[in-house]
Amino acid sequence: SLLSGTEHVADKRSFRHFMLKEIHEQPETAALWVARHLPEPTEGRLVALPLDPGLYEGLERVQILACGTSRHAALVGAYLLEQLAGIPTSVFYASEFRYAPPPLSRHTLTIGVTQSGETADTLAALAMEQERRRLVADPAFAPRLLGITNRPESSLARMVPHILDIGAGIEVGVAATKTFLGQLLAFYGLALALAERRGGASGPGGPRQLRDLVSQLRQLPALLERLVADHDQRCEALAHLFADTQDVIFLGRGINYPIALEGALKLKEISYIHAEGYPAGEMKHGPIALLDARVPVVSIAMPGTVFDKVLSNAQEAKARDAQLIGVAPEGPDTGLFDVLLPVPEVDELLSPLLTVIPMQLLSYHIAAHRGLDVDQPRNLAKSVTVE
Ligand code: G6P
Repeated sequence: SLLSGTEHVADKRSFRHFMLKEIHEQPETAALWVARHLPEPTEGRLVALPLDPGLYEGLERVQILACGTSRHAALVGAYLLEQLAGIPTSVFYASEFRYAPPPLSRHTLTIGVTQSGETADTLAALAMEQERRRLVADPAFAPRLLGITNRPESSLARMVPHILDIGAGIEVGVAATKTFLGQLLAFYGLALALAERRGGASGPGGPRQLRDLVSQLRQLPALLERLVADHDQRCEALAHLFADTQDVIFLGRGINYPIALEGALKLKEISYIHAEGYPAGEMKHGPIALLDARVPVVSIAMPGTVFDKVLSNAQEAKARDAQLIGVAPEGPDTGLFDVLLPVPEVDELLSPLLTVIPMQLLSYHIAAHRGLDVDQPRNLAKSVTVE
């Protein structure tokens, strides 16, 4: 995938496309985040996150508004906020929320997630929420707004009083990659910080689980470095298998369900192959009718609460002759896959930070193999500033 000599394009360094360069920048995105937000173990707090107490004191609910890839990061964030910090959380398509907001809830934090900080639907949904809460006299309903963005100088940042800057650096490729990882990390920071302030993880692990997660997060840059290099080669070698593919199903469960959605969105965006992301347990309620030898199934099967369930869902797909691509750790359990994209085992809660890498590289190499304009896909814009 590297160009040489005279073909070298300075801006893309030696990469053929910005998207590939940006995928390769993710270990650095993670390293910067670790340096900024995970203080040395001796310094007291587990996570350094400048949060105004007005955002989280007495907090009862979180609602997250976003579009596209940012919404997938929000879904992972909601899982973390609920399962780690114990805060009921809902995720909305900003374009839907605008016209049918739920009844007002008390002591609610509203988070807008937009990489560009300029997406019209997300900004309008946030403005509407801010306005309707301002009109209520009861302080329990007062607006508490937080923005997560890669552009701290954007319209979003001018609109909401609190911003988490993901600091991923400019992303040129229309398909979001390193900014998605940055958004995920913002949610890990937020969920860990809120869990810590509430006296430990809400799950069985308590404060000990938080310390374990933080120490595994410190290893993330090194893990990503190896994973990106490895899967770049593996996915490039696989791309020709998809030359005539028209449909792909992505399956995941639990915290990896949003990664299945993201895998499908990436493939649609840049390769124009029809793809659907489904929670694996839902496959039997419809999509299984689509399966045959022409429809590859990408199954994200990471050890944890739903591992056995995901494997048996994959088995059901295999019984319909589907080609099975597994995103899973190497081992006897995962021998059922026709192709394995191996991902090291980490705490299940952290696995999306790794499983997203093969999703990005698979869609990148399939699109590049088809000779498509990966960085500027047809009909898409980097940020959609109209409704
Ligand atoms: C556009 C892009 C998507 C992106 C979405 C949200 O539709 O094509 O890739 O995820 O906007 O962008 P944002 O800047 O709000 O994260």
